[in-house]
Amino acid sequence: MDETPVAHRRRSLAERVAIRLLYPTFRPTAESLREAVAGKVVLVTGASHGIGKASARKLAAAGAVVLLVARSRAELERLAADITAAGGVAHAHPADLTDPDAVDRLGRTVLSEYGHIDVVISNAGKSIRRPIAESYDRFHDFTRTIDINYLGPVRLLLTLLPDMRARGHGHIVNVSTWGVLMPPSPRWSAYGASKAAFDVWLRSVAPEIAGDDVTTTSVYMPLVHTRMSAPTDFGRMPALTVDEASDLVTHAVTAKPRDIAPWWAVRVQAWSAVHRDQVQRFMERRFRR
Ligand SMILES: NC(=O)c1ccc[n+]([C@@H]2O[C@H](COP(=O)([O-])OP(=O)(O)OC[C@H]3O[C@@H](n4cnc5c(N)ncnc54)[C@H](OP(=O)(O)O)[C@@H]3O)[C@@H](O)[C@H]2O)c1
Repeated sequence: MDETPVAHRRRSLAERVAIRLLYPTFRPTAESLREAVAGKVVLVTGASHGIGKASARKLAAAGAVVLLVARSRAELERLAADITAAGGVAHAHPADLTDPDAVDRLGRTVLSEYGHIDVVISNAGKSIRRPIAESYDRFHDFTRTIDINYLGPVRLLLTLLPDMRARGHGHIVNVSTWGVLMPPSPRWSAYGASKAAFDVWLRSVAPEIAGDDVTTTSVYMPLVHTRMSAPTDFGRMPALTVDEASDLVTHAVTAKPRDIAPWWAVRVQAWSAVHRDQVQRFMERRFRR
């Protein structure tokens, strides 16, 4: 399993307690996961690394037919071969989700090859943490985050939703971030806005498709040690391993709750909405320091 060296470091007792208290995770039993996904066609985006890769392995081990999507063909093919060798079923479908034609092609291909998709794990993403003062000549930071974190997943779902609704069956899991529930954070404008856009889009669409038994789960993922979070200076902050993060994804697929979030996140969200001005001033002071 590909984790950063930080994730392999033994957690101190304080870290273990902090994780247990702040980010409790849920691992579905093997039977309940198998019951939920055995024989189902599950498409996982961002399956070449990190949370997506670990989730794909667990879903395949539980009997799902897993369709692996990301740009890195070699990684996907290696993962598909590993899964097949372990007795599972997985197929690599390399695609750049920021390329509209590639996304349309992917949607058409998977529907024609597998007949339907039961579950979509919308997990592929890109994070950028950069102050605005260093972004004046980097408009591409905003286009590339919005393309992969918002427009790509929307386009993919536009190709898959009609079939899911017609069949009266489907589940969509959005691997979002706890940041979406927090007050907007300095330096995270590109990433935060793009993740918030898809979160709002999916939650807006959810009531429209619920009548056709197509359900959604938004996973407001806390910090996870992956290659995505590695370049930022969060090395000492308590964070989940990809194994724990992928448990949240398999829990989403099994129990199908509307949201999965750290227990305190929605409370902070509500409090910060009421005290918006105070929160903004706190952010300003903190950023100046
Ligand atoms: N790590 C965290 O702390 C954290 C916290 C909250 C939420 N999340 C969310 O969790 C999700 C997974 O992140 P991760 O930490 O597992 O990151 P990761 O290890 O960097 O994996 C990102 C995945 O997205 C794929 N991807 C990126 N750009 C793509 C594109 N244009 N087309 C298709 N696939 C693309 C990557 O594959 P290729 O490079 O092969 O294309 C890779 O498989 C993201 O949506 C992220 O926002 C992460």
